[in-house]
Amino acid sequence: MIGDLASARAEFPLLESCVYLNSNSTGAVPRGVEQVLADYWQTISRWRDEVWERWWVELHAYADDLAAFLGAPAGSVVTDVNLSSLLGRVLGAIDFSKRSKIVTTALEFPTVPFLLRAQERRGASVHVVPARGGASIDGEALLAAIDDETRLVCLSHASYETGALVDLHAVARRARACGAWVVVDAYQSVGVVPLDVEALDVEFVLGGAHKWMCGSIESAFLYVNPRVLCEVEPPATGWMAARDPLSFGPATDYADTARRFASGTPAVLPALVSHVALRMLGRLGMPAIREASLRLTSRVLSHAHDADLPVATPLDDAARGGVVCLRFAGDDRVVAALKADGLVCSHRGGVRIAPHFYNTVDEVDTFMRALIARARASS
Ligand SMILES: Cc1ncc(COP(=O)(O)O)c(C=O)c1O
Repeated sequence: MIGDLASARAEFPLLESCVYLNSNSTGAVPRGVEQVLADYWQTISRWRDEVWERWWVELHAYADDLAAFLGAPAGSVVTDVNLSSLLGRVLGAIDFSKRSKIVTTALEFPTVPFLLRAQERRGASVHVVPARGGASIDGEALLAAIDDETRLVCLSHASYETGALVDLHAVARRARACGAWVVVDAYQSVGVVPLDVEALDVEFVLGGAHKWMCGSIESAFLYVNPRVLCEVEPPATGWMAARDPLSFGPATDYADTARRFASGTPAVLPALVSHVALRMLGRLGMPAIREASLRLTSRVLSHAHDADLPVATPLDDAARGGVVCLRFAGDDRVVAALKADGLVCSHRGGVRIAPHFYNTVDEVDTFMRALIARARASS
């Protein structure tokens, strides 16, 4: 482990109690959060309405730091409690009456196809690009599905099951050439795979802080490309989406920032908590985090290869996010048994092993030796 990452590791108390390779499910949370929670208690135990003025500034500072982390300008990110509600607002703001086709893939997190199918009641038709072996998407097939009928391409950057990455630059280019918009669910990549949304130039990117970003639950976010901001007026809205909510006057116009995708009273505590790790990730830098992640997932892959365990995740570094997925008979029971021994990962259609920058090679070795022993015993 190199210097900065080793000292960052000491900031995560969770790592003292188990081997934690579960950061694609819920990231470890840094110690600095304890002070944020103590301050929050001081605030609410002496409640005064005036605190909203400070929180308003802090909320926007968090959203703007998130924007900078994504390579985007201030004012282009809004936060809310979950990705589903933000995606629902994005989809509701898109007109499917002239062009109806939505292109998506078979590897989406369940909330995405559920929301997309719901758009069929609004005139959309959903085209699903199948997954190769339930593991990854064929890039050519995906690009071929995007055509002049396509209004929207909505897909995840990294699969929540296998971590397989989609080539977003190729998708964005093809969509632009066809006059379609792109919505990216980056929940499983942001914080572990570098993402530069300005270079990508897609219309919307969604994510959340409680996985690879080591933040709080209830801290999803939406980036809106300033190029399309004025074209979208979400009908599912609320007073916080208006130009000047704190005037308490009639809400008539939408804000001219991504806040036009807000709804009602914002979730403050998740943003304050999540800001702690965001600052740390910014200091460490995504290149160092990605390098550490690839080193650790390569180690997982080499153990799996030596033990002949079937790998669902692409082996190529460039095609892989932060997780390695193994699929074998009895894999769900193996995950439960490992957890009972303090070796923590998750099971979604296979064993998902998700080390992060704060894990060590020794932890991966310990984990994989135990997993292989359990897998052999269960076969
Ligand atoms: C790819 C992906 N999208 C979305 C979500 C969660 O969405 P929401 O914030 O609406 O619960 C997850 C959570 O596991 C996910 O992995």
